[in-house]
Amino acid sequence: MVQVVLPNDANPLGFILGGTVMHLIDIAGAIACHRHTRTRLVTAAVDDLQFLHPIKVGDLIILKSRVTCVFRTSLEVQVDVFSEETLTGQRRRTSRAFLTFVAIDSDGGRVQVPPLLVETEEERRVCEEAQARREQRLRRRLVAED
Ligand SMILES: CC(C)(COP(=O)(O)OP(=O)(O)OC[C@H]1O[C@@H](n2cnc3c(N)ncnc32)[C@H](O)[C@@H]1OP(=O)(O)O)[C@@H](O)C(=O)NCCC(=O)NCCS
Repeated sequence: MVQVVLPNDANPLGFILGGTVMHLIDIAGAIACHRHTRTRLVTAAVDDLQFLHPIKVGDLIILKSRVTCVFRTSLEVQVDVFSEETLTGQRRRTSRAFLTFVAIDSDGGRVQVPPLLVETEEERRVCEEAQARREQRLRRRLVAED
């Protein structure tokens, strides 16, 4: 996803609002997951998020999402956020987010997610890392539910 940062998206310093970036991350992540599952989805979790550099009004904000691993009824997606200066083309990664979506049917029941084709060494590594994150995430969920 690519869009121009407009004044309406920004704080008084002229930088995009963190909440706006989070909103776009949720949408970019959902698009990749919808394309994989072709089901209804809800966001179950967003891992901790850092804003490494500001993105200023007039810059482009670019979001790239990829499904990293699928589980049973849930899947993880990675969303990388970049700023791009329109005049120079200079691009910097400003955030990396991992989100978990759960596939649901029209009654809110869980739906099994189709398998992910994992072919390359890099895809295998990414999926293994996602599994490790999932374990930590589910541990944090237990704490959050306490
Ligand atoms: C997310 C939600 C559907 C999970 O429901 P639940 O009854 O607790 O689900 P289950 O325990 O059966 O888990 C279903 C799957 O979600 C995963 N999951 C649930 N909560 C999770 C979390 N916090 N982090 C990561 N995965 C999670 C489970 O591991 C399971 O995955 P699997 O089938 O691949 O093994 C439910 O908590 C919910 O509806 N939350 C609100 C979602 C929402 O409103 N999002 C914002 C708007 S879209």
